[in-house]
Formats: sequence, structure tokens, C-alpha cells
Amino acid sequence: MKTSGSIGPTLSGKRIVLGVTGSIAAYKAVALLRTLLSEGANVHVVMTQSAMKFVAPLTFEVLSDHPVSTDLFEAHQEMKHLSLSEQADAIVIAPATANCLAKSALGLGDDLLSTMLLTARCPLILAPAMDGGMWTHPTVREHVATLRARGTIVLDTEEGPLASGRIGQGRLAEESAILEAIQTALAPQRDWQGHRILVSAGPTHEPIDPVRFISNRSSGKMGYAIAEAAQARGAQVVLVSGPTALPTPSGVEIIPVATAEEMMKALSTRLAWSTVVIMAAAVADFRPTQRASIKIKKRERIGHTLNLERTSDILAALSAQRTTQLMVGFAAETNDMIAHAKDKLTAKGLDLIVANDVTIEGGGFGSDQNAATLIDRQGSITELPLMPKRTLADAILSHAQGLLHSNKRSIQGANPLAGGR
Ligand code: PMT
Repeated sequence: MKTSGSIGPTLSGKRIVLGVTGSIAAYKAVALLRTLLSEGANVHVVMTQSAMKFVAPLTFEVLSDHPVSTDLFEAHQEMKHLSLSEQADAIVIAPATANCLAKSALGLGDDLLSTMLLTARCPLILAPAMDGGMWTHPTVREHVATLRARGTIVLDTEEGPLASGRIGQGRLAEESAILEAIQTALAPQRDWQGHRILVSAGPTHEPIDPVRFISNRSSGKMGYAIAEAAQARGAQVVLVSGPTALPTPSGVEIIPVATAEEMMKALSTRLAWSTVVIMAAAVADFRPTQRASIKIKKRERIGHTLNLERTSDILAALSAQRTTQLMVGFAAETNDMIAHAKDKLTAKGLDLIVANDVTIEGGGFGSDQNAATLIDRQGSITELPLMPKRTLADAILSHAQGLLHSNKRSIQGANPLAGGR
């Protein structure tokens, strides 16, 4: 049964955490829960101690068919602040009190709900409810502004009769407005529509003879995640891939290559077509000066030296040839990561470099997760925690999107980029 006239994108299968805090409007969260369930969402409810003074957890428990989480320290709710937020597609707090807004803006974590917000990486939607005098108080306005600047969706309150008996601003937003905010936050982003992104991934193989080669530990997972994320966000994607065991992401055109030279050729051919280049490949820096045409016999080579020469710096060469493309490189480092990455950003003429410490446990080569620091040519440094490579891919694309916008603004203005590259 549908309890709302929702016409937005379906919430079917979406995992939503519904946070309920201590406001008289807490009873409206029951109706919201029913609507979310009727839209197909899988909803876990988290209540604060004050919320439980207004509505009993049992009401939410019976309707949602999941235990209600209330206490950070309860034995069976061990690490709930991590597991709930990591699995959620969205967190919605309705009603959100002034106290909840303050804790979220300041990063305080003194109960399950507020601690969970500190670990959340999914969209966060807050629907405040409080008395009018509180809603217009400068401190609350400041907290709302801080949260919005950080990307949290804070809905406006409604005007009408308040619990105090006064008429004013501060009522919980209409259920349809909360539902629409959730649907918009979960709708697939198409912010790269109209862009053509050239991505490189994987290692290169530099042959010694027909059976041996020089290479590195790259699995291609990082580059493939970027290709997949860019395609999902509406871009046309060409993926130039060194040898990997990964399936081609759907909707992505793949150009398989083996050596650095082949990768250089494939990328150069597509450079003019592209609007953005993202170089996640781990290109071998050296190759044997000679490639034997037949298998080298062990006994022939005992005591012999393998002579190496540098491969071309593909990224630097592409940067030098670019016209308007945004150039994104990676820096795989084991020490002094920021300093080395900054040097590469400048030396290779990049707009953005994704620095990763490849020695950290659970990240770097071969793993499904990675931790990175994004350094852009405007001097901003954004440190990101260990996260799935697919999530990191989205974060890189969002940062690159911001740079494209600032490019456009400066080109429309004084054109400081002209001749500056
Ligand atoms: O593939 P995975 O197993 O998922 O691992 C991901 C990764 C660790 C390979 C990835 O996150 C990463 O760091 N990729 C870049 C690896 C690398 O070669 O870094 P670098 O610091 O040596 O090179 C700096 C940049 O120049 C890179 O964008 C690289 O693609 C590029 N380069 C390097 C050498 C070369 N001859 N030509 C280049 O274009």
C-alpha cells in the first residue's frame, strides 16, 4: 500500500537509517517510516534517549521489522555506529532537534546517533523541528550554514502552529518534502553527462623475451573503478588498460595494451577526443633496451646484466599536448607522499593528483580499498580515509568536477589560464 503520492525515483532496495531525536514531532517519524517502507526501502531506526520519551521504540521495531538501535554501549549493538552507517545508502534524521544539528555541525559523538554521523559517508538528510525562537537563533543558523556548506541536506522547517502554542517557523517539513529530498539524494548523479573521459588502468608489461617481462603489482582495480563511476555518472569513457584479470565495466570502451609504448600510442590517439584524462595506470618506468626474439636460455645469461632504459613519461607528454583537457594523475608513494606528489603535480603539468601511500595495510596495489590525498593546482589538499576504490573513484570525480567549474569561471573572467599551462 502506498501512503504517499510519490512520483520520484524508487527507493526499492535502498538501505536507509532513520534517526529520530527528541522532539514532539517524533510521532511523525512513524508515518515517514511507513512511507519509506511502502517505497521499497529497507529501514533501520536509530533513536536517541530523548526520542524514546515521545515514542516507544517498539512502534518502530514492529513496523520496520528490525530491532531499533538506541545505545552505543549495549553489548548486542557492538560497533553499530560503524556497521549501520557503512551499509546505509542514506541517513535521514527526522525530526532533528537543535541539539542534533549542533552535535552534527561540531562533530560531537556522545551517543549512538551522533557517533554514527561521524562515520557516515553516504548522503545525510536532516529535517529539523523545534520552536520558532530556537530555529531563528544565530547559533542554530550558524550550525545549519556549516552543515549545508559541508554537503549535508538540511531541510527548511514549515511555518504553522508549534507545540508551544505559538504560530511560527519550526514545524517539521512535510513528509512529501522529506521523501523528495531522499529520492533526489539517492537518484543516480549524471553530472558527467556530455564529457568524454580517457582513463588508464593496470600495469604495463615490458618484455625481456617472449616469455618474460618487467612489470609491477597493479591489478587495475583503481582505474576500472574510475571508469565505472564516470560511466555511471553519464560520461563517455574510453579505458586504456594494461593486462588485468578484470571484466570490462559495462558501457565502457576498452583498448587493451601491454607495453608503455602501446599505452602512450592509444592515449595520444584519443587525447583530442577527450575532455578529461585520468591516469591511474602504473606504467613501468624502465624497459629492457633489447627484447630477445626467442626465449633466453638460463645458461646463456648467467652472469649477464639486463640493460634498461626509461619508458616515456606518458602523462607529462599528454599534458604538454593538451588543449583544454583536465589532467588528473596519480602518485604511488612509499615515503614523503605529499612532497613527492606536489612535485609530480608541477612536473607533469597536472590539474589534480591523487596521492596514495602504497604501503598502507588494506590499500594501494591489488586491494579493493584505497586511501588517498587529493592535491590540486589551486593548492587545496583533501585527505580521504581508507574506503572502497569505487567510493574513492566518486570522490575523485567530484573533486575534478569542481575544478572544471572553476576553470569555466576563470575562463569566463580574466582568462588567467591562457598561456599559463
Ligand atoms: O591497480 P591497482 O591494483 O588498483 O592499484 C592502484 C594503483 C596503486 C596502481 C593506483 O592507485 C596508482 O597509484 N597509480 C599510479 C601508479 C604510478 O605509476 O605512480 P607514479 O607515482 O610512478 O607515477 C605518477 C603518474 O605518472 C601516474 O599517474 C602514472 O600513471 C604516470 N606515469 C608514470 C610513469 C610513466 N612512464 N608514465 C606515466 O604516465
